[in-house]
Amino acid sequence: MMLPVPPRHPPTTALDRRQLLTLGAGVAAAPWFVRDLRAADVPRFELGIASGHPRAHGIVLWTRLTGADLPERVDVRWELARDERFVDIAARGTEPAVLADAHSVHAEAAGLEPGRTYWYRFEALGQRSAVGRTRTTPAADASARLRLAIASCQRFDHGHYAAWRHMAGEDLDLLIFLGDYIYEYASNPTAVRQHDGGLVRTLEQYRARYAQYKRDPALQAAHAAFPWLMVWDDHEVDNDYANLQGQSLQPDFAAQRRAAYQAYWEHMPFPKAARPQADGSMRIYDRTDWGRLARIHAIDDRQYRDVQVCPRPQRGGSNTVRLSDCPALLDPKRSLLGASQERWLAEGWDLSRPWNLLAQQTLMARFSWRELDDGLYWTDGWDGYAPSRNRLLQVVHERKVPGVVVLGGDVHAHYVADLKPDYDDSKSPVVASEFCGTSISSHGLAQERVSAALKFNPHLRYARADQRGYVAFELDERALLARLMVVAQPDDPASAVGVAARFVVDAKQAGPTPA
Ligand SMILES: [Fe+2]
Repeated sequence: MMLPVPPRHPPTTALDRRQLLTLGAGVAAAPWFVRDLRAADVPRFELGIASGHPRAHGIVLWTRLTGADLPERVDVRWELARDERFVDIAARGTEPAVLADAHSVHAEAAGLEPGRTYWYRFEALGQRSAVGRTRTTPAADASARLRLAIASCQRFDHGHYAAWRHMAGEDLDLLIFLGDYIYEYASNPTAVRQHDGGLVRTLEQYRARYAQYKRDPALQAAHAAFPWLMVWDDHEVDNDYANLQGQSLQPDFAAQRRAAYQAYWEHMPFPKAARPQADGSMRIYDRTDWGRLARIHAIDDRQYRDVQVCPRPQRGGSNTVRLSDCPALLDPKRSLLGASQERWLAEGWDLSRPWNLLAQQTLMARFSWRELDDGLYWTDGWDGYAPSRNRLLQVVHERKVPGVVVLGGDVHAHYVADLKPDYDDSKSPVVASEFCGTSISSHGLAQERVSAALKFNPHLRYARADQRGYVAFELDERALLARLMVVAQPDDPASAVGVAARFVVDAKQAGPTPA
């Protein structure tokens, strides 16, 4: 099937649902390597290709071979070129794809030029993969701008991937994926499409779930169009898991998490050095500098957190509780990031560049579901770890960290917010801006509930749980512009996608304002 052709430039005004539906006509052509991409055209490479972990002089190139007849080891050739026809080759090599790693390939191209676009492809067993486009980060001393998007929560059986199809036609330097790449659940028989197999628990089952998601042509197009930076959230392992505790308090959760982390590494463009350790842990928190413009801090709020307080009886995971019923919410000893990652973040804020982007999993701003005299909070997010959030934002305040913009996902809603070190103090200053992007496809809460709670949360500038999509950004030294993108018909793979709202953040002053 030919991929539907996305518009090259998104529309410039906010659109209602009917207007979005009229966007199908008159669109420009996507790049040929995206347009020509078809799932299963090349059976050995049916899961597509990807690039990630961009640096000024290097990039990780990913693929995974498929086929029941694969030998234990296959040598896979890769090449990276300065032109899309592969005349001017910049780097090439051979990587073994081995059965123990599900025949995944993590090739590390080195010696590249900073701030440059490259094209790459793989070859093995007489077949050649699709072509991908990628980009190195600018040199450390280069003034640069940055066009990026954030995305999260692509539950396969909740909707189609029109958001990815549209995004693949955007001119982006980078995509940051903020978690829930797969969902571990079995599907409801009435779902718009079905997960293969039931609840995922074993390495083979995680591998099969990744493979099912990666066969989607729109997702493949988004991987082929730009490099990705990635963090995970809970569903790559188990809903609401915390550290080594599963949601159902399953006794073998450590083995389940180990299998899930192995499958995650196998299917994502992480370097070889990031592969899970002998103890089953995998470090994903990391920094990426973008010339003189920005430092991107990507953090992990799952692996090192203290378990959620005040859970439901006989369960792990989240609950929604009143503060008066759960005073442990204010225990300053608890952490969402773990002590060493908290320290790593506090010590690594960049005081010289105009922007510090914090890529993390969920809504950071306080969100109470009732009056604040006795707030009602969801315990899995930052509200379950308020002192940890306050410590993080207090460091930003005291050290006057410039241009802190927190990027999140997880809650399946577009939220734009002011971030303050102490939401209980009316004089607490706005020290950072937050864009929590909605899900690619996963269902959200009822909008009436969210709207009814807005009066308790005046620091929220935008809150729409009824929108699917992503957020795109353009940054230069002076300002950040954000476009909140919305899919018109999430159950239609060819749906139109348009701009629902625009916000701007001035580099000199924290807090988003409508543009
Ligand atoms: Fe999610």
